[in-house]
Amino acid sequence: MSPVAPTTARFISFEGIDGAGKSTHIEALGERLRQRGAELVHTREPGGTELAESLRELILHRGMDSLTEALLVFAGRRDHLQRVIEPALAAGKTVLCDRFTDASFAYQGGGRGMDLAVLETLEQWVQGTRQPDLTLWFDLDPAIAAQRRAAAREADRFEQQDLDFFTRVRAGYAARAARAPQRFARIDASLSVPEVAAQIHRLLESRGW
Ligand code: TMP
Repeated sequence: MSPVAPTTARFISFEGIDGAGKSTHIEALGERLRQRGAELVHTREPGGTELAESLRELILHRGMDSLTEALLVFAGRRDHLQRVIEPALAAGKTVLCDRFTDASFAYQGGGRGMDLAVLETLEQWVQGTRQPDLTLWFDLDPAIAAQRRAAAREADRFEQQDLDFFTRVRAGYAARAARAPQRFARIDASLSVPEVAAQIHRLLESRGW
């Protein structure tokens, strides 16, 4: 795992509580990188392969305890890394991944209260040293996110959770960000869509991307 990738290869993940609005911006960011010559692979977790998409259905819609949930999430991640992410990076492509392991620390760790040491072990087993080069964390007050979600589609097992759950998820992201400040960029997702897009634009400019 984790072969040295060509320098053009970039692995960018997008994180945040449900309703933070990240999906709106992934497309625009991809378009910008494409215009600058990047070959893109746009993918997501849970999911990203046929097997992992099947696991996603179970994770989002079937009742299970938090360890089972974490094991399924990481099983899907392993398949996703092996079949999609690692080959794409090895070929010099840019991978845009809608959620990755930080979500496990935020949702299973923070939200469900799982032992972080267990998650760290799974992380090590499944991905070795592989981490995104950049993680855009769309940070938003859980009360505002709940209002935004109310207008959207039917809620899955996570979206049905209460404000306390999402407050813990948010704290889980904050703790992960504090441990990897170089990798994480916090986006203020309370702002309007054009203002959030401008934040992302400035961030990429500062990296020369
Ligand atoms: P999505 O709706 O953004 O595609 O995400 C699906 C849900 O899966 C979201 O509520 C967060 C949850 N999730 C986890 O609980 N753990 C994980 O590791 C990942 C990647 C997602």
